[in-house]
Amino acid sequence: MSDLPVRPERDREPGRGAPTPRRTGGGIGTRARRAVVALAAALLTPAAPAQESDRAATYTPSAENLAARRWFTDARFGVFLHWGLYSELGGGGDRGVAEWIMENRKIPAARYERLAEFFNPVRFDADAWVSAVKAAGARYIVITAKHHDGFAMFGSRTSPYNVVAATPFRRDPMAELAVACRKAGVKLFFYYSQLDWHHPGYFPLGRTGHAAGRAPGGDWESYLQFQDAQLTELLTRYGPIGGIWFDGWWDQAKTPMRDRWQLARTYRLIHRLQPAAMIVNNHHVAPFAGEDYQAFEQDLPGENRSGYNDAAVSALPLEMAETMNGSWGFNLVDDDFKSPATLIRTLAGAAGRGANLLLNTGPMPDGRLQPENVATLAAIGRWLKVNGQSIHGTTAGPIPPQPWGVTTRAGRRVFVHLLRDPGSSLALRIRGVRSARLLDGDAPVRVRATGEGTLLTGLERPADAADQVVVLQLADDA
Ligand code: GLC
Repeated sequence: MSDLPVRPERDREPGRGAPTPRRTGGGIGTRARRAVVALAAALLTPAAPAQESDRAATYTPSAENLAARRWFTDARFGVFLHWGLYSELGGGGDRGVAEWIMENRKIPAARYERLAEFFNPVRFDADAWVSAVKAAGARYIVITAKHHDGFAMFGSRTSPYNVVAATPFRRDPMAELAVACRKAGVKLFFYYSQLDWHHPGYFPLGRTGHAAGRAPGGDWESYLQFQDAQLTELLTRYGPIGGIWFDGWWDQAKTPMRDRWQLARTYRLIHRLQPAAMIVNNHHVAPFAGEDYQAFEQDLPGENRSGYNDAAVSALPLEMAETMNGSWGFNLVDDDFKSPATLIRTLAGAAGRGANLLLNTGPMPDGRLQPENVATLAAIGRWLKVNGQSIHGTTAGPIPPQPWGVTTRAGRRVFVHLLRDPGSSLALRIRGVRSARLLDGDAPVRVRATGEGTLLTGLERPADAADQVVVLQLADDA
């Protein structure tokens, strides 16, 4: 089950906040025109040398990588940070995904670039961010090193379109964050958008970026080399990092470029530079060789409420990314924030499916985290202080998700997460339960073996509990 609030049906294209406007005039439609342009361009683009099918590649993860995966699944909870030039505009008064404003408001790249001149987040304090993350009980951060707008939020030597060279701020927030994370024992991952609305080599265009005003034509291979050069910087100049979180592959999902990403080449580069760094790609399809975990956008693995997640749940470690309101980037007008209780249930719901929760907040243009979100993170942290052992270091429990909640497991202990009121008794298909108690307060819970399994009785789940956890102690031979 999921405790995600039911959200209004929206355009199914990833990241789209506003529906695509319809053309009213006659003639060839935008979609058709784009398809023709993309196809013609693809035919004219020489095939990349030694093209390797991304689906045919093979991959054997290194020992360091396998250890990183174990660390990752034990961590169970991370914080996602979407921060970039778009944060300055706060969504421009629209609800929806604020980091898409360049695309949604059709801002040409040459104009959007000016936002760099105004980007001066003087209140940015990496230690303050990391302490908010730690207070939440989260173990890692994923931050946008480059989003679809193409602007590098790190001091890239590959292109001057970056936070150090192009803004009055002149500091490298990724470097400061890397230091703060290392000090605090928090792992840092970099989000990197493969889709790029700014780079002239990103051509033929995919589904988006048609209003950016770039000259038609461009050398796809030059874009891939730019991307790999930036990734090399991220993997060599910031110390050991948790991994790379890719996004934007889907922009080319329906064009011939789909097969020209050279994922295997890029993934090999990353694993060579940092064997323990994990690769994930939010492409919404089955994982490719070289990926170390599987991402689910706005959905518990196995569910597809958002419309993005048709892909089957793989055997890789899993992670669900979730917004606090309806936007990844800072949105000035969307204060429809999910409550701490809802998010705790999402965290437990993910853990009960063997998945991590990557909970997003969009830092503000002055460099601070949104105070409402800091408060929510702190509330989740207070719950985890008491109940963390039922989340961190657990696997999915022996009982699959149920209408009342989920189970997780650590060794001989099974955690029954009552996300909804099950009534005063609960029958569980599990044998060999020696005892049961509430995790919060340690009160015993009556337990009786039945033909079917185990019956818990005398339950009184407080109506305002986010998640009431009952710990079952299993017999050694159970
Ligand atoms: C989508 C959006 C993007 C966001 C990401 C996070 O793919 O395009 O804006 O960064 O989801 O999962």
